Amino acid sequence: MRADDLVHFCPPGRLIIGAGSRRQLPALLHRLGHRDGLLVTDAFFVGRTPWVDEYIEAARALGITTTVYAGGLPDPTTTLCDEATTAIRRDLDGRVLDHVIALGGGSNIDLAKALCLTMPEGRPIRDFIGDIGWARPLPLIALPTTAGTGSEATPGAILLDPSNATKVAVMDNALRPRIALIDPEYTVSCPPRVTAEAGIDAFTHAIESYLTIDSSDYDRAGHADPGYSGRSALTMLFAREAMRLALAWLERSYTHGGDIEARGGMAYASVYAAMSYGSAGLNAVHGIAYAVAGLTHKSHGSTNAVVLPYVLDALLTVRRTEMLEIARLFGIALDDPDGALREVPVRVRALVGRLGIATDLRAFGIAERDLDRLTEEALGVVRLAKALPLPDVAAAYRTIVRNAWAGRLSADAGLER
Ligand SMILES: NC(=O)c1ccc[n+]([C@@H]2O[C@H](COP(=O)([O-])OP(=O)(O)OC[C@H]3O[C@@H](n4cnc5c(N)ncnc54)[C@H](O)[C@@H]3O)[C@@H](O)[C@H]2O)c1
Repeated sequence: MRADDLVHFCPPGRLIIGAGSRRQLPALLHRLGHRDGLLVTDAFFVGRTPWVDEYIEAARALGITTTVYAGGLPDPTTTLCDEATTAIRRDLDGRVLDHVIALGGGSNIDLAKALCLTMPEGRPIRDFIGDIGWARPLPLIALPTTAGTGSEATPGAILLDPSNATKVAVMDNALRPRIALIDPEYTVSCPPRVTAEAGIDAFTHAIESYLTIDSSDYDRAGHADPGYSGRSALTMLFAREAMRLALAWLERSYTHGGDIEARGGMAYASVYAAMSYGSAGLNAVHGIAYAVAGLTHKSHGSTNAVVLPYVLDALLTVRRTEMLEIARLFGIALDDPDGALREVPVRVRALVGRLGIATDLRAFGIAERDLDRLTEEALGVVRLAKALPLPDVAAAYRTIVRNAWAGRLSADAGLER
């Protein structure tokens, strides 16, 4: 317990975890009264796995009709969402849906979340960006196939706006899945690159939310039901265990994708990380990573990974106790606490490198002349910037971006921070 905490904890409606647990879904949906659904996925799952057909047959046997939309793409755009809305509504020909199922990584889950809003009336997704108003989205069942974004437990969907290549969010607690079903067997077919980048995303969610602003200091802007509200002892419980699991299993699942124990460990790491950041929120890693993605169009996980060590380095002093706990999880000797602290970002950077991801922004393809613009764009994501627990956030972002570009950590002797 932390006496100052102001807990506003918002998990998904049901959390079902276990190898093979996908087979429980048809009976559960039947029991909950669902009869007419939309399954949102992509060509890989329809063409290369038995999961879609198996689900549809088992659901049909219980009287549940399912329409399949397999047009999901990585980093879905607002245009994709609007086109999908029109096409699916045309196919349904007036039939009314009572649930949406997402099968896939964060991209398919986010597209499905957006469709939960647009399908009932056929309105464009831009009507819901920023604030969904009084809309009542369709209930969502999320079946993540990566470990992962944690979108199965969060209140938001991230979409790309093709008009200016920035990411926009639709966000409300009403968008949290009614059911998050995590079957680690879904992740076994993930190729190593997807495993590495999704896995470091999960680790980032855990560590970033573990160190973020306290719930007692979080600016809720008067919102009665905030999606994110700062860290508490409750979110930190999940974050700590998520970090431990990711450190135990991420590299193994990257190098030995068929190891079901490693896949299970990462499935738990991912959803535990989401149970932390899905209420605590995030800060500078994601804020700067969004700007890096805008410039490079590289994957969400890799843009987080390249920034993460340098944000940790900036937090060594203000999050000393927590950073020592992370050092302990890494197995760093604590007899020299200052040295142990400085070692944490070094170990994280080495992990990023072992996952085959560039460890500085220069190697990531960012030109030095773009650093000021990148910093300004990152600061423009105010919700994330405000949650960095440092007094001068603009100055901190400038330093972090410069250090990330040069690959400079405070442990690298004699270098300015
Ligand atoms: N809403 C949120 O809270 C939230 C949080 C973090 C990230 N995101 C979003 O999630 C997206 C990234 O998601 P992701 O990292 O899960 O990747 P992804 O969903 O973009 O998938 C990447 C590729 O991997 C394939 N793939 C996924 N699972 C597979 C499997 N089991 N076997 C074989 N191939 C598989 C997909 O078909 C796709 O081609 C980004 O758009 C990001 O913005 C959302």
